[in-house]
Amino acid sequence: MARFSDELIEEVRSANNIVDVIGSYVSLRKKGNSYFGLCPFHNEKTGSFSVSDRKQMYYCFGCGAGGNVFTFLMEYENFNFTEAMEFLAERAGIKLPEHDMTPSDKAKSDKREQILELNKKAATYYYALLRSPQGAAGLKYFKEKRELDDETMRKFGLGFADVHSNALYKYLKSQGASDEILKESGLVNIDERKGGYDRFWNRVMFPIMDIRDHVIAFGGRVMGDGEPKYLNSPETMVFDKSHNLYGLNLARKTKRPYFLLCEGYMDVISLHKAGFDCAVASLGTAFTDGHANLIKRYVKDVYITYDSDGAGVKAALRAIPILRNAGINVKVVNMRPHKDPDEFIKALSAEEYEKRIENAENGFMFEVRHVFEGFDMTDPAKRTEFQNEVASMLTVFTDELERENYLTEVSRKYEIDVNMLRRKVNEVANSKAGKKTPEPLKDGRAVNNKKEDGRLISQRALITALVENPELYGQIKDLITPSDFTEELYYKVAMLVYEGLEAGDLVPARIISAFQNEEEHSKVAALFQTEIGHLQTDDDKKRAIIDTLLKVKQNSIDYNKSHVGEADINAAVAKMKEDQIILAKIKSLNITLSNNGGN
Ligand code: UTP
Ligand code: MN
Repeated sequence: MARFSDELIEEVRSANNIVDVIGSYVSLRKKGNSYFGLCPFHNEKTGSFSVSDRKQMYYCFGCGAGGNVFTFLMEYENFNFTEAMEFLAERAGIKLPEHDMTPSDKAKSDKREQILELNKKAATYYYALLRSPQGAAGLKYFKEKRELDDETMRKFGLGFADVHSNALYKYLKSQGASDEILKESGLVNIDERKGGYDRFWNRVMFPIMDIRDHVIAFGGRVMGDGEPKYLNSPETMVFDKSHNLYGLNLARKTKRPYFLLCEGYMDVISLHKAGFDCAVASLGTAFTDGHANLIKRYVKDVYITYDSDGAGVKAALRAIPILRNAGINVKVVNMRPHKDPDEFIKALSAEEYEKRIENAENGFMFEVRHVFEGFDMTDPAKRTEFQNEVASMLTVFTDELERENYLTEVSRKYEIDVNMLRRKVNEVANSKAGKKTPEPLKDGRAVNNKKEDGRLISQRALITALVENPELYGQIKDLITPSDFTEELYYKVAMLVYEGLEAGDLVPARIISAFQNEEEHSKVAALFQTEIGHLQTDDDKKRAIIDTLLKVKQNSIDYNKSHVGEADINAAVAKMKEDQIILAKIKSLNITLSNNGGN
């Protein structure tokens, strides 16, 4: 990932007014100091989504989404930081340096660009051919055999490869491409004797796009029977099968909170056509961790809708643990008696398919059911084997509550005594764990999670309060310092906030972009949007601020107590006295707030 200097990041950020950028995605209306609209991150009718021109930040009062212009693009477009930088730099006409590229990286990057350019030309060529007299057979196939309409064919950029086996080769050569690059693109083969000939001919063509709508590869299908049914591009510099999903360029924009995971091109296309704009497929290859991680950037829930036949079930059983390990909730759609989404929707309807989604089976219960079907339950020996197998399967859940929920469900469905099953699961879990000691907590603190949350919330609330009310700074800076922020990231942000306030030029949006890691980015954004409850009067607000200050200080005191050895008892006593004085000072603070705050 490219690294950018702070100055450049700030240049790009400040050259893109957040109101304009967000305004191109969301319709905004001015109200007071802010702009309001319908939140693009959750479904709502009221318009809780605010964008502040002054702060150059957005915040949703409904769902808590918020951040600067980079955060918005990272959330809305699912860009990573580099992609957001590239997008905004281009938008503002700022050229990003390629300075840290080695000559060989530069050569690679140029080659990638060339291949993408060739793919784009090829896609345009196939697309036009499908709609020309030479493409008649392909068009007939799509329209009659596959019942596709123009709109769907356009959306997926479907095309046709000619019967002549070197038509594309000749075309691309005429456009100035060299044999060498054409070979690397996977579009043609170069034969010593025969010269160049196309990889795809006499097939209907499915361009494969990445999330930024670059054509990275193709799939081509024979129009009748024939082998292979689908021919795909080989892996190239721009096509990595295990990190791309067919349909993701469209599905990433879905409003649905889940993806439908299918087996093939036509399944994805049929589902989109039927209104399920969240369908994706792995491309003629097994589902991988790379796919799961890609999906996780967009949704937390996946419905597997693979073929109903044995191969489909087997593929589903392979994909379920991969998705689960990535932290995705998995369900499996039952399409019986039909084979795949394409056939199902044609035979029944989109409404019926929607019902099947609603009734989809939990992924784990699907796995258990398939194990169950392999045992003869009338035989006590087999029954015991099944129960042991299930107990072992249940140990994949390390979260106690989660495991208990599955345990209860399995015991109910398969009539296994819940207590006996629980004992068995614990037994298996213990023996699996063997001598492994439980993972130590970070920096050795054995903290209870709720308490931890409370501490973090007050630290966040204090940072938000300082940003919203810069006049607080002078009143508290001697009582609370950045080192009172015990979480590493909060400490860093507090340092930047204090620096900004000290210099009188605090720009929260700038602080957010000092962090480039996607996860940190949203965490930092959260620091500027933690309101201390919904407080009406100034007195309430002042009380709440004092309360927050006390919590932050007390937490810092407790934290240091458990971290600093009692080397010098005198120093410890002195420190304790000092802390008490500070706490007392905070309690008796007479806070003044000016009223120019707000969003
Ligand atoms: P299927 O054989 O299930 O095809 O392969 P399908 O999706 O039902 O296609 P239609 O409806 O017959 O046209 C599923 C996926 O596996 C890959 C393709 O990505 C296909 O969409 N595949 C299949 C290949 O890559 N090569 C093949 O020869 C067959
Ligand atoms: Mn199929």
